[in-house]
Formats: sequence, structure tokens, C-alpha cells
Amino acid sequence: MTAGTFLSGGVQVHTLAAAQGEPAKPVSANDHIQIALIGAGGRGQSDTKVAAQVPGVKVRAVADCYNGRLTHAKELWGADIQTTRDYNEILARKDIDAVIIGTPDHWHMRAATDAMDAGEDVYLEKPMIHLYSDGPKIIETAQRTGRILQVGSQRVSSMIYKKAKELLASGSIGKLNMVTAWWDRNSSIGAWNYSVPLDANTTTCDWPRFLGTAPKIPWNPEHFFQWRKWKAYGSGQAGDLFVHLFSGTHFVTGVHGPTRAMATGGLRFWNDGRNVPDVLLGLFDYPEGFNLSLRCNFVDGGSESQGLVFTGSEGTMTISGDGVGLVRVPRSKEPGYSVNSFADAMQKEFLEAYRKKYPITHPSGPIPMGEEKYVAPHGYNDTYDHMTTFCNAVRTRQPVVEDPVFGFRAAGAALLSNLSYDRQKVVRWDPEKMKLL
Ligand SMILES: NC(=O)c1ccc[n+]([C@@H]2O[C@H](COP(=O)([O-])OP(=O)(O)OC[C@H]3O[C@@H](n4cnc5c(N)ncnc54)[C@H](O)[C@@H]3O)[C@@H](O)[C@H]2O)c1
Repeated sequence: MTAGTFLSGGVQVHTLAAAQGEPAKPVSANDHIQIALIGAGGRGQSDTKVAAQVPGVKVRAVADCYNGRLTHAKELWGADIQTTRDYNEILARKDIDAVIIGTPDHWHMRAATDAMDAGEDVYLEKPMIHLYSDGPKIIETAQRTGRILQVGSQRVSSMIYKKAKELLASGSIGKLNMVTAWWDRNSSIGAWNYSVPLDANTTTCDWPRFLGTAPKIPWNPEHFFQWRKWKAYGSGQAGDLFVHLFSGTHFVTGVHGPTRAMATGGLRFWNDGRNVPDVLLGLFDYPEGFNLSLRCNFVDGGSESQGLVFTGSEGTMTISGDGVGLVRVPRSKEPGYSVNSFADAMQKEFLEAYRKKYPITHPSGPIPMGEEKYVAPHGYNDTYDHMTTFCNAVRTRQPVVEDPVFGFRAAGAALLSNLSYDRQKVVRWDPEKMKLL
């Protein structure tokens, strides 16, 4: 749906209608959703702030391993919320309907399955899995318990991606042959060097609980606060950023995943003890007949950017931060000629024959518009739409798009990059059965 159209520098710009999701029905006092947050770091807090804006949602409890974040949770959501280091104390309550999980990746499966077994619906941050064995466990638990689990790659609920899906399906770019996507950064925070608070120590931080199933090592505040830099807790650029690009690609195209993957890259700049690369390139073959090419570069001294380009036989479609653009350049109907190197007489004869076969025609009517853009309203927040989708599902029990199967297909595809990078080999995956081959 579009709200208006105008011309800007030869580009036809359509404003997408402000369709921030609304709750399924008016919220009555007994239709409130009581939520808790498990893992109250940067993303967990920002997800929960958004959730608290959805009509009828109340934040009741927060679990985290660092005291400073539990203190801040009370500053944000009131002194009367429960705070604890042990999320089981929250799961034991009968009055919590749903949890948001924003822990590091190595806790995702355990926290999500514990929550569903305790009867909670779950908004689980991406990537859904840390290990391939996590996928079937989360899928089985969701099916057995009948709980809603939505993975937190918010672009799956974005009006921009919905428009892109619609444009592709309506044939706007013809037959898709390639998707190119990238995420380049040029800053220390962008390269995951998140701040360590000055009071970080083994009294303020629950180090054994943070480690969980990760190898037991002595207290290390960088591992605690900058966990993405180590495979024991995170999944490198593949699990952090490729997974978003997979979720977006799978949502827009409606496909289930690649069958073959190869990746390369290296640790080129941030040599600070991390054991994952800061430049990663991946190539993926899709059985539907297109290739996906992905790139993450944390050392882009040129400029920071991210985007996805869908290339088809009749045009390209580019998703950027604020919208989706289409460029269509009609292919010439005549084949053209390359006769300069022939003898003059042959050139003349060739051109005469050519023009007889392809007479010059003059276009009639207006010149076809080659470029269009669909832009989201200023300040559009796709996480709000994603959270609203989740809350609607909690109320209506209707399934969500980004369910555990979608989440496993996106994260399973993303983590192929790490396998290929580590093994220096092409790796294979069955996207239907969600199994490594
Ligand atoms: N959807 C997005 O755009 C997006 C953006 C950023 C992060 N994320 C995801 O969100 C998750 C969190 O990332 P972050 O940047 O907020 O990390 P963070 O380090 O800021 O926060 C993680 C928090 O989890 C806590 N924690 C660890 N183990 C715990 C446990 N057993 N119980 C309770 N709390 C525990 C830690 O103490 C920490 O405060 C990651 O999975 C990340 O991939 C998603």
C-alpha cells in the first residue's frame, strides 16, 4: 500500500503507508501481556522498551548476570519489577505470559527451551542457534508445548521487506538470478568492542552463570561484555549479521535455504585476541536458480553501509535503510553489431543487411520510467512491527512467520559460512530437512 507518489530527480518515489502494526483488538484489563526479559544487555533492553510501547504489555521481571543492568532495569521499568540473576525464578511465576531472550547466543537454546517448558511464549533474539544441534531441540519444544516462538530478525515484519516481497512476486524484476548483500563497518563499537563498566568484577557479574556450557575459564571482563569476539559464546559475523541478511532474503524470496556454501575472509585489523574473522565473504547456491553473495567487512575505511540487491532478468531491486528501489533498463530489442574490424565493403554490406532486418523504429508515447523507490515513513521502526506481530500471536495463538523452522533455516544457512571458513572447504546443507550433508 502506498500513501503518495512524487518525482525526485527523475525517480518516481512512493511513500509506503504508515502501517505500524496495531494490536489484534482493543486491550482490556484482562488482555494484558505480562512479560519478562532474560538477558538485559543492549538488545534485550531495547527490545523490551519497544515491547512496553505495544498496547497492553507490562514489564514484570528481568534476569541478567550483571548487577548494573538489573539496577538499570528498575530505573527503566520501575522499582517494583522483580530482578534476579537466575531466570528460573522468573519462569516459576504463574503470571508471566512471555519472555524476551537477549542473552549471548550460547544461552539461546537453553533459555528458550526452559521458558517454553515453563509455559511461556518466547521472543528469541537472533541467531536462533549457536550449535546445529540447538535447532531440532527448539523446534521440538515449541511443537510439544504449543508455545509461540518468534525469532528476533525484525526485518521479517518490516513494511519495506513486505513491499520488496510483493514487488518480486509481481514480476517487477523478472526472474531472479542473484542476491548480493553486505554489511560494512568502520568503528571500534561496530567491531564489537563494547564498553566494559568500571565496576565489572566477580561480585557484580555472575561469571559462572554467564559461562553456562562454555569452557570454564578464569574471570575475563572482555569475554563477558564483548562476547561476540569469541566462538564460545557467539557465532562471528555469520551469526551476528549474515543471519539478518538470510532472514531478509528468505522472507523476500520465500525460499528455504541454500544447498551449497563456501566462505573465505580473515582477521585483518582487529587483532585484539578475538578468534573470529573481521572480514567474511560467503557464496551460496539456491536450488531455485539464484546465487547469494554476502560480505561483512569491519575494516571499511571507505564508508559504512549495508544493503541487499536482488538482480533479475528485467531489473534490480535494492533494499536500503529507508526503503526499496527498483531500476529497470529495457534490454535492446536488436542484437547490435561489432563490424569495425571488417573490410569497408563488408561493413557496408553487413549494415545494409542489418538495417533491413532491424529497421530503425521511433518510440511512441512517454519514455518508460526506469527508476522507482518505495520509502518508509520517517522514523519507521521495524522492531515495533515485529514485536506487535509477536504480541498479536501471544493473544490469538496464530502462528508467526519467523517461527523456529524459519529461524533454524536462516541461522543454519548463516553458520555454513563458519563451517566453510574453518574447514576451508565447500559445505552442503539440506534446507528442507535442515541437515548438514
Ligand atoms: N535483532 C537485532 O537487530 C539485534 C541487535 C543486537 C543484538 N541482537 C542479539 O541480541 C542478543 C544479545 O546481544 P547484546 O548486544 O544485547 O548483548 P549484551 O552483551 O549487551 O547483553 C547480553 C546480556 O545477557 C546476559 N546474560 C548472559 N547469560 C545470561 C543468563 N544465563 N541469564 C540471564 N542473562 C544472561 C549478560 O549478563 C548480558 O547483560 C544476541 O543474541 C544478539 O545477536 C540482535
